[in-house]
Amino acid sequence: MELAAVILAAGKGTRMKSNLPKVLHQLCGRPMLGHVLNSVAEAGVTKKVVVVGFGSDQVTDFVGDKAKVVIQREQLGTAHALIQAEEELHDYPGNLLVVCGDTPLLRGETLAKLTEMHSQSGAAATLLTAQLENPTGYGRVLRTEVGDVSHIVEQKDASPEELKVKEINTGVYCFKVPGLFAALKEISPANAQGEYYLTDIVQILIKKGLTVKAVTLEDAQEVQGINDRIQLAQAETVLRRRILEDLMAQGVTIMDPNNTYVDRSVKIGVDTVILPFTFLIGDTKIGSDCVIGPGCKITDCLIGNNNEIQYSVLLNSQIGNHTIIGPYAYLRPGTILADKVKVGDFVEIKKSQVGSGSKIPHLSYVGDATIGENVNVGAGTITCNYDGKSKYQTILEDGAFIGSNTNLVAPVKVGRNAVIAAGSTITKNVPDEALGVARGRQTNLADWAKKQRKKS
Ligand code: UD1
Ligand code: MG
Repeated sequence: MELAAVILAAGKGTRMKSNLPKVLHQLCGRPMLGHVLNSVAEAGVTKKVVVVGFGSDQVTDFVGDKAKVVIQREQLGTAHALIQAEEELHDYPGNLLVVCGDTPLLRGETLAKLTEMHSQSGAAATLLTAQLENPTGYGRVLRTEVGDVSHIVEQKDASPEELKVKEINTGVYCFKVPGLFAALKEISPANAQGEYYLTDIVQILIKKGLTVKAVTLEDAQEVQGINDRIQLAQAETVLRRRILEDLMAQGVTIMDPNNTYVDRSVKIGVDTVILPFTFLIGDTKIGSDCVIGPGCKITDCLIGNNNEIQYSVLLNSQIGNHTIIGPYAYLRPGTILADKVKVGDFVEIKKSQVGSGSKIPHLSYVGDATIGENVNVGAGTITCNYDGKSKYQTILEDGAFIGSNTNLVAPVKVGRNAVIAAGSTITKNVPDEALGVARGRQTNLADWAKKQRKKS
């Protein structure tokens, strides 16, 4: 049967103390709403509707074409929020999952299981519940003597007896859509908070002679809602661990999972080892048999196989195979390294291509350059690519040898197998096979030092 989902995300999230809507706060590189949208998609949902309110422009921007958006202008309660989705779902024939936008730990498989139980039982509604040692704050699920769900009572409306119940409403539901919106409109705000409670739907459906079932969650941690930044950090720890364990299950070694930070979107090949204090961010893909870390921050990079990268920052770059990078290299956007390249300590590269077998081992800045194969760039080489107004290109052809402490004043080209004498400031092209020297000639004044000493 067809499956839709409504994600309730109109609340402000007052306790976050933030100008950013709560559901846009990030964990493992993705807003919490992004994780929820992902889980919902994993459960097989084909139609998604997000109810937005506080910060609706920002939330709508983030949702983009991932889901339909409906606006709840005033936050009058969870039932009122769900009714806002009626325009999108009034003639929907299938089932509907309702989840909150602030539960990023909820797994796709849990939602799939809930949906399956719901379909099999033929109930009008199925609740996802959990047993909590400390149920404070949650709605309590009340059952009849024979164990059927009878209703849900909110913390603020519950009697002392009801408050002792440890089975809580997780706020996740599966409904049959036909008849749902009519029933929602029967809900009244006559309760302690003066809100339209979605939880009241339970009694209304039962009164109509329909069945309400409940599925109890095994891992109650999954429905931990996020209300403040402490819970945000706790949830991030859980999510991070899940991501790392998935990678380990796929054949990636993570030496110290407590100190390794990998976004959900990152892909890593088998037998790659990730050492501590490494951040792998965004759209990053790493091949097999690499050693990454310690101490790397790699964002949106495509990295091949058999590479070693330590203590370095890489942004939006592409790395071939068998390269060695770091310690302390900084690869900025547009860097493309071919195979068997070495980029050593304190080297910055920006918007440049480096051919196979080339080496930039120490203390260099390479910007807007095209470097051929088997080029050796000596320590302290600087491409002077910017005159304050425009950027210019440097070309180093195959086999060129750049002596230490060279300034390459762009635009400039060094030909095949050409050699640049150390300490040169090269302002003109150097032909193939030539030696370029551009520095003051050395003069030695005999006994100069001795004479100075005598004078004083
Ligand atoms: C709700 C449930 C409670 C359950 C708990 C689980 C009700 C009445 N109670 O309580 O039984 O134990 O979730 O976490 O449903 N929202 C809107 N518009 C509104 C109000 C809320 O979009 O007008 C959204 C919020 O952004 C949030 C979700 O609905 O994502 C839940 O709202 P919240 O106020 O946190 O409900 P609880 O009081 O926690
Ligand atoms: Mg809540």
